[in-house]
Amino acid sequence: MATIPFMDTKIERLKGVLVEQLTEARQRTRWLLSTVSEEDLYRQHDPIMSPPIWDYGHIGNYEELSLLERAFGKGLSNRALYDIYDASLHPREERPSLALLDREGADSYLDAVREAALGALEAADPEGEDPLLRDGFVFVYHMILQHECQHNETMLQTLQLMRGEGYRPEAKVELPEGTPKEEMVHVPGGPFVMGTDDGAWALDNERLAHEVEVAGFHLDKTPVTNRAYLEFVEGGGYEREELWAAAGWAWIQKESVSAPKHWYQREPHSWWTQRFGFDEPLSPDAPVVHVSFYEADAYARWAGKRLPTEAEWEKAASWDPESGTKRLFPWGDDPPTPERANLDQLAFKPAAVGAYYPAGASAYGVLGMIGDVWEWTASDFAAYPGFEGFPYGEYSEVFFGPDYKVLRGGSWATRLHAIRNTFRNWDYPIRRQLFVGFRCARDA
Ligand SMILES: [Fe+2]
Repeated sequence: MATIPFMDTKIERLKGVLVEQLTEARQRTRWLLSTVSEEDLYRQHDPIMSPPIWDYGHIGNYEELSLLERAFGKGLSNRALYDIYDASLHPREERPSLALLDREGADSYLDAVREAALGALEAADPEGEDPLLRDGFVFVYHMILQHECQHNETMLQTLQLMRGEGYRPEAKVELPEGTPKEEMVHVPGGPFVMGTDDGAWALDNERLAHEVEVAGFHLDKTPVTNRAYLEFVEGGGYEREELWAAAGWAWIQKESVSAPKHWYQREPHSWWTQRFGFDEPLSPDAPVVHVSFYEADAYARWAGKRLPTEAEWEKAASWDPESGTKRLFPWGDDPPTPERANLDQLAFKPAAVGAYYPAGASAYGVLGMIGDVWEWTASDFAAYPGFEGFPYGEYSEVFFGPDYKVLRGGSWATRLHAIRNTFRNWDYPIRRQLFVGFRCARDA
């Protein structure tokens, strides 16, 4: 079929944007690792994390496998690398002993894959026969872009766990001041559209859009702060079994957990935290971070509240009750900016809660839903009605079930292309390496 000239221009423009986005993402990956010593690059800083050099090589290998090989049938065919960088084949504790590419080797490998990926992009014909390319060619490029962004955040989680001197990044962004809002927002009952039919950015687990009836509820206007969480800690919250889910109670006993990860006391009642190797007094108005689902759940019970379900969270973030339409971000469909949310890594910490009022508010007036800290929800990670694994089954499907809890909203360490109101993250309920906090809900 002959190409319509107008269509052609649109595709060329789209391809140009993709090249820019992919190039910028690679620059960020390399910049984040540029100050990490060789020793720290290869070391496993925590049993649940990979050495940063594994993430780096894996970014390239994922691009080769899911884009060059699976979408275009043109892998670079170094089969040994497929094995080394397959996350499902090697548990993290094995990864340091694999024959990983060193920094220079990975630099060249990532460059070679990228050159081939951009070559394939230039030649890609969305009018052709292949269904993946016809319907999903933009998606496949967006998928590898998001994957690289996600591994940037994972690498930052690892660098936060690094011992010794620490990562000590230089903040490139100054954060606005904020005032915590103690009140809760009422979200009236009624249906809303959960998930999305978007085929350009949305990952398989965000699809399809479907109507969900949500009973009226109240939601904290801002995430739980360090100040509020400290009251729970000092008020003996970690000693009261009745506040904890049975598995959570067993976990805090076994691991001797008595405060969020990275908190410590210099003297009685003087709490400090370690952030990338910096020792800082706890910032009272910042959201609490590095808490497990179980800690969030116990705090909520202590406060006479509960965690929101995933549907409640998404309704409060995305639904515009006046127009009956769904927003991509809490404030609307326009992309995130530094005035709306703390995303994109360069602040290297969350802002005080309430800092993005009013520009970042959702239609219901809820603040800080995107950026700063991920938020635990009460929901297990499950498929939406009509779910289809795409582009392959293992992407989300193998994680569905009661083992994982859903987190929403992204953190300061999430890049712009890897977050939206419908984005779903998941992890085990004991995990605290994420830049994660929470807010509470209550029945209406
Ligand atoms: Fe990955």
